[in-house]
Amino acid sequence: MHIAASLLSADFLNLQTSLERVRGVDFFHIDVMDGHFVPNLTFGPCVLKDLHRVFNTPLDIHLMVENPLFFVDLYKDLQPTFITLHIENTPHLHRSVHYIKSLGIKAGVSLNPATPLCGLDYIVQDLDLVLLMSVNPGFGGQSFLPFILDKLKAFKTRFPHYQGVLEVDGGINANNAPLLRACGANMLVVGNYLFTHSDPTQALCKLRS
Ligand code: DX5
Ligand code: ZN
Repeated sequence: MHIAASLLSADFLNLQTSLERVRGVDFFHIDVMDGHFVPNLTFGPCVLKDLHRVFNTPLDIHLMVENPLFFVDLYKDLQPTFITLHIENTPHLHRSVHYIKSLGIKAGVSLNPATPLCGLDYIVQDLDLVLLMSVNPGFGGQSFLPFILDKLKAFKTRFPHYQGVLEVDGGINANNAPLLRACGANMLVVGNYLFTHSDPTQALCKLRS
């Protein structure tokens, strides 16, 4: 089970110290928000460039924006491992996924909680990562939506040959992590639970076990 720490829940006034506490994670999950697709704004490439100088933790970029290809170009020089687009907001999904891959970056597609899985039918074979949102995107610290467990099971049934990353994002903690794993998730995005924990190393162990 891979764990990605969502920087949205870090202490922005003490970013370096905050990230040092979660150094053991597999990825830094970067929520890019534009105030249009979701009602919130986050950090831009300058912050991430500075972060990249200090940490060599691989990046998992989650674009919650309109005009996602513009943002792909803004972030591509950081050489992230993954860039994930939202299916609801990407009209030319096949072209966009292949553009990301042409940059040597792994491509993901994310679905909001209420978005049906059928939109993946003709693209899933090209994906490195599928991200199922377990909250409505825009904010950290929201409650996990339990019906996502059924959606995960439905994904495994619908796409039995999918070999890529199956990531879940939103409201994840040590209680629901084992359920997510049992339903087939192999990468969890964790924000609030990890950054507010008194012992993040212990929290990570719990999430992984
Ligand atoms: C929500 C973001 C998530 C969020 C996760 O729009 O995509 O990555 O920050 O944080 P928690 O774990 O606090 O729900
Ligand atoms: Zn996210």
